Amino acid sequence: MVWQPRESNPLYTNPMIEVRAPQTDQEWEAYFDLRYQELRKPWNQPKGSEKADDEDAAFHFAAFEDGQLLGVSRLQRNSLEQGQVRFMAVSDQAQGKGIGKKIMAEVEAFAKKIGMTEIVLQAREIAVPFYLAIGYENVEKTHLLFGEIQHYLMRKKI
Ligand SMILES: CC(C)(COP(=O)(O)OP(=O)(O)OC[C@H]1O[C@@H](n2cnc3c(N)ncnc32)[C@H](O)[C@@H]1OP(=O)(O)O)[C@@H](O)C(=O)NCCC(=O)NCCS
Repeated sequence: MVWQPRESNPLYTNPMIEVRAPQTDQEWEAYFDLRYQELRKPWNQPKGSEKADDEDAAFHFAAFEDGQLLGVSRLQRNSLEQGQVRFMAVSDQAQGKGIGKKIMAEVEAFAKKIGMTEIVLQAREIAVPFYLAIGYENVEKTHLLFGEIQHYLMRKKI
């Protein structure tokens, strides 16, 4: 993506964006496809690699504008207090418009509601500035995905 700053109020979140779990078969298909397009296909990974074994046990978040899916994220419970975000992605043409921020605000609000006090995640190097901008701290450099994508463990108290 080419990063374009937008005129921003730090508290701004787009009121036209609705964040909720996918509901219909079509929405679920679009949900996993967005993951595939953003997080797997550019690295020539096979279809199916966008799904983990524990999807049924996780909480799913999808951002819609006028019925169109623009972003996705997933929260899992690591312990009573700790949640982990995985598979966070905003579609190419919708990046840089506050959608990722809005999704993460909803994820964190929900995590808090169910008793979590911190969120951890493995951030791709390219996404570290995004997570820093929304209050995550960079804990340590971790693994390389597909032999080339450096990841960093990040954490936020909520
Ligand atoms: C990373 C990603 C999820 C961010 O979502 P987004 O909708 O593009 O980000 P937002 O527009 O909500 O940005 C929120 C804040 O992060 C900051 N930010 C986002 N990307 C940034 C970047 N590359 N560099 C600097 N700041 C950035 C913005 O300045 C914004 O701050 P502001 O509210 O003060 O203006 C999205 O770009 C994406 O899906 N990228 C490709 C897939 C990916 O890497 N996923 C993450 C896997 S760990």
